[in-house]
Amino acid sequence: MLREKIAYDVRECLLSVKGVNLNLGGRPILRDVNFEVHNLYRPGMLQGQVVGLLGPSGMGKTQLFRILAGLNPPDSGHVLIGDPPVPVAAGMVGVVAQHYPLLHHRTILGNLVVAGRQAGQPAKAAETEAQRLLEVFGLKEQGEKYPVQLSGGQRQRAAIAQQFMCSNQLMLMDEPFSGLDPLALARMCQFIKDIAQTDEHKTFVIVTHDIASAIEVCDTLMVLGRDKGPDGHFIPGAKIQQTVDLIARGLAWHTGISRTPEFHAAVNEVKDLFAHL
Ligand SMILES: Nc1ncnc2c1ncn2[C@@H]1O[C@H](COP(=O)(O)OP(=O)(O)O)[C@@H](O)[C@H]1O
Ligand SMILES: [Mg+2]
Repeated sequence: MLREKIAYDVRECLLSVKGVNLNLGGRPILRDVNFEVHNLYRPGMLQGQVVGLLGPSGMGKTQLFRILAGLNPPDSGHVLIGDPPVPVAAGMVGVVAQHYPLLHHRTILGNLVVAGRQAGQPAKAAETEAQRLLEVFGLKEQGEKYPVQLSGGQRQRAAIAQQFMCSNQLMLMDEPFSGLDPLALARMCQFIKDIAQTDEHKTFVIVTHDIASAIEVCDTLMVLGRDKGPDGHFIPGAKIQQTVDLIARGLAWHTGISRTPEFHAAVNEVKDLFAHL
């Protein structure tokens, strides 16, 4: 591989998922889900983590997302965040759900200020931070508009900016690539990569079934799927089947990776894996 190898240190644990089980309607949905996300430190660089939780539709990703966000409890197991680790509770992490909930009767600026106020910021500080984020997120011209006046991609960026107002370390996103046209999709991928490099302490966990987009933006992928029993039948309940280290493959932290043979090989490899989950 021609791309240089990028050096980094593995530091503190930012997210720890231990023995998570979930049943719904008497059916196992998640079965013993375990993984950890560590702070990866790149000397001399601002580098946040982007971790992808990947799996076919119906596999339990949104259910896992809600557990990671502290919105629903698992039947057993737990989710710890931060250093020192504490059990996650609703409101502790940034959450960009599949249908991003902006307040329709407020301007984009107003949406951000409300989020800051709810997180306990004084009005003036919330306004200053909101203006800064609008600039960072390429929404400076949209501040006085209402959500309905924005494109899908702009609305999604506004929803992420709104979550940044709470200055959360951890940002969870459910299917951030769905419902975007090809141009908006490319922008969203670039945007997540850019934002991850503006803050060392921002960690994204992205839940998606979009294999190519996940490989494009993530540094680590975890693939959710079911085990097979000795008889070849699926055992109900998804767990992490495989972790793909995209840094080791030279597919993270470089530009232009989506045009490389290694990128296409990784997409096909995960596609093949999906076919057996
Ligand atoms: N409230 C519920 N009661 C019973 N089953 C549910 C409920 N919500 C979701 N499920 C089931 O849980 C499984 C996982 O759903 P979900 O997490 O939305 O999948 P994904 O996000 O991976 O597409 C699906 O089979 C779905 O039918
Ligand atoms: Mg889902």
